[in-house]
Parts: sequence; structure tokens; C-alpha cells
Amino acid sequence: MVGMGMIFDETYRPFFERAHKMGLHERPLGDLDVQLAAVATRTGSRAERYRDAAKDLIHPFDSFAGDGSVERMLHEKLDFACVATPDDRHFDAAKQILEAGVHLLVEKPSVLSLSELDELVAHAEAKGVLAKVVYHKLLDPDHKKLRTLVADDVLQHVNNGYCTLLEPKLISGSQFSEWITGRNPGTYVAVHYIKLIDFTFGGRLKTVTATGQRGLVGEKDGPTWDSVQMRMVYEYDSGREAAFDIHTSWVTPDNFPGYVEQEVQFRFDNGLWNGHSRKRGVECTVEGKTPFDMKISMNNHYNGTFLEPWGERSQRGYGIEVIERFVREVAFVEHGGNADGRDDRLTLMRQLAYNDLAADRQVVAAVQALEAILDRAANGEPNCIARINDDQGGLTLYHPGKAEPEVLYEGLV
Ligand SMILES: NC(=O)c1ccc[n+]([C@@H]2O[C@H](COP(=O)([O-])OP(=O)(O)OC[C@H]3O[C@@H](n4cnc5c(N)ncnc54)[C@H](O)[C@@H]3O)[C@@H](O)[C@H]2O)c1
Repeated sequence: MVGMGMIFDETYRPFFERAHKMGLHERPLGDLDVQLAAVATRTGSRAERYRDAAKDLIHPFDSFAGDGSVERMLHEKLDFACVATPDDRHFDAAKQILEAGVHLLVEKPSVLSLSELDELVAHAEAKGVLAKVVYHKLLDPDHKKLRTLVADDVLQHVNNGYCTLLEPKLISGSQFSEWITGRNPGTYVAVHYIKLIDFTFGGRLKTVTATGQRGLVGEKDGPTWDSVQMRMVYEYDSGREAAFDIHTSWVTPDNFPGYVEQEVQFRFDNGLWNGHSRKRGVECTVEGKTPFDMKISMNNHYNGTFLEPWGERSQRGYGIEVIERFVREVAFVEHGGNADGRDDRLTLMRQLAYNDLAADRQVVAAVQALEAILDRAANGEPNCIARINDDQGGLTLYHPGKAEPEVLYEGLV
């Protein structure tokens, strides 16, 4: 495990604790023993705190900290490694893991540029291992239903839509304060919806535009963004287009009734999909607790903590399921049949476009475009437009008032 911050605590920890206690079982694979063997973090303090708190809930793991921690972690015999560091620190760790011939699961956004993506995919290919990215929203039952209706042609041709994900101020103010300078909430959270749109509706990404606001987390004309709005235009085989707006923020007041605000609307030729991931039906008020210690509206589908009817305490949901699913994919490659069939099993698992890095190209192109547009805006050149696969290159940035475009990636996206 590389990085043991918020997302480790929310999803990886419950997965590893459950796997430690119960193992993983699947009939063709048998009984799988999955243990957290080693961790690499920046300072080591969170790893020590977790070790003390978890006691026998987790396998005794080795902890490596500071410079070279990932490399030292990789001296252990590992089957797979997960990267949950800040988004601009995924690439180096992911590269080292793949070079060591270890299966990789990396948090979203996988990487911030297409050239980094190319490099990771090439390493995975050369070493014969999986390189996968976590997009847990694709496993949200509501989004699975949306995709099912689209796949079954019940909802026909998406025309446009919007998505919003608003994080509380405590994310930018304290949780991420160590690494937030120069960053934006778009890359960090819009990417969930970029992938949802890309995976659910298919099509070719053509254009990305973006704008945003500053002045709360950092200077009003500095490189750190409070909120970001981006628009993507896609074209489908029919030649028709669709536009999607994604609004994100990490400066929502901390007394907001939910942990995050998440809403989508998609408009089709013959229908309308409205989804609200926070208001799924539960509102709960507790004197002296809500909305600070406890939230009024809660997402009981992501990583809810429960007292099961049979008395057991559990933590479950799609945020944890997505990690378990990856581990089952690794297990299928390594243990799903005889050694002669490993290549075929690897190919099968690589064809899963929901999480394979090779299928993340348009998403990474959108992220790279967003990063470039915000960077140029912070440097006095607002309103650039990124075009994908036009006659100038794979990813090209057009600056207002300049005849010469800037080619960010030459190859086809
Ligand atoms: N799937 C989701 O919905 C979801 C939710 C939150 C975060 N994330 C993703 O998870 C990643 C981490 O987010 P977080 O919320 O856990 O952040 P965080 O700031 O809470 O934790 C980051 C962790 O990375 C470690 N770290 C930092 N630099 C490192 C380095 N160079 N080498 C090794 N360890 C290093 C830190 O010590 C810390 O343990 C981000 O990419 C983020 O986008 C995903």
C-alpha cells in the first residue's frame, strides 16, 4: 500500500481487514489468503498510528517511510500494490511497481498526462501484469442501472447533461493542506464523472473547456483553485454530439448536511435521468451531532458502517467492492487455471475497460486538458480550448488570439 490517507481509511482499510479475517473465496479460485504485507508513506506516522489502533485486525505489516520508501517496499515479495498518494504523485510510485513486475491498482485520476499513461501501459505490457485504476462510482448501483438502460437502448442517445461534486472546506483546509498548493478540485473529483460519461456513453471526446474561481484556498490570481467548471463535447458514430458540464468544489461550508454533494442529470432523445447520490432517501438529525460529527444525509452505499442483523459489525459498499473486484482479477490471472493459460487470463482481465489503464485514454486526455487550461489561466491566459484528435495532434491547446496552437500530445488519443 502506497499512501495511507483518507481513502486508505475509507476503502482499503476495511477491505484488508475483512480479507485478513475472512479471506476471499470464489469457487474456481478456491480460498485466497490476502494480506497487507507492507506500506510506504511520506512520514510513516499514519502507518504507525494505524498499526497501534488496528492491533490484530490486520496482518503485521512492514512500514517504509520517506525517500525511496516505495523501492524498499518492493523488496518484499508482493503480488499487487495499490497507490493512494496525492494525484500528482501517482506516476512515480506506479512506474516503480510495474517495473518490479507487480500488479498495480492506482487511485483516480490514474495519471495527469497521456505520455505518463503510455509509459505505464508499456511497462505493464512488458512485465505481463495488470495496471488498473479505481473508479468506484462505476460500481454505484445507480450508475450501474443508468449504464444498463443505455446498453439496452432503453435510454437513447444522450444529448447533454451535468454532474456536480462539491467537497467540504475541511478537505482543502486541513485534510489535503500538505499537497493542495497549485492543485484544483476538478482533477481530483471531476474525473469520477469524466469516467462515468466516457464509460457509459462511449463516443469520441472532441473538446474540453474549463474555468474556475480562486481566492479562498489560495490567492485570487494564484495557481490553487477553489472551484472548477469544465465542459466536454463528445461525438458519437451517428455524427451527433453531446455536451457535459461538470462542476466541482472543495470549499463547500463544513456545516453542509452531507459529506459531499453529488448530483447528475443526463438528457436523452427519449428520456431524462436524474440522480442524487446524497439524497437517496435518508435524513437523520441528532441533537449535538449533526451536521458536524455526523451528517444529516448519508451515503449508505459507498462504505457504510453497519451492525448486521446477525450481530456482526461491518463496513461495506461499492467503494470497498471495487478494490475486492481488482483483487479477484489478480487472483484470476495468477490462480484461475494452469500456468499455460496465464496469458489468456491476463488478456481477458485487460479487456475490462472499466478499470484498465489502457482504456483510460480519453479520461486522461480530459484531465491533461483541464490541467493545462487552468495552468494557462493562472499564468494570465484564460479561456484556452483543448481539442482532441484534430489535424494538429492528439491533444492540442488553442490560445485565444494566438494563431499557433500548442500541441500537448502528438499521438492519437
Ligand atoms: N476513490 C475516491 O473516491 C477517492 C476519494 C478520495 C481520494 N482519492 C484519491 O486517493 C488519493 C489519495 O487521496 P487521500 O484522500 O487519501 O489523500 P491524503 O492526503 O489523505 O493521503 C495521502 C497519503 O499519501 C502519502 N504520501 C504522500 N506523498 C507520498 C509519497 N511521495 N510516497 C508515499 N506516500 C506518500 C501520505 O503520507 C498520505 O498517507 C488521491 O489520488 C485521490 O484522488 C480517491
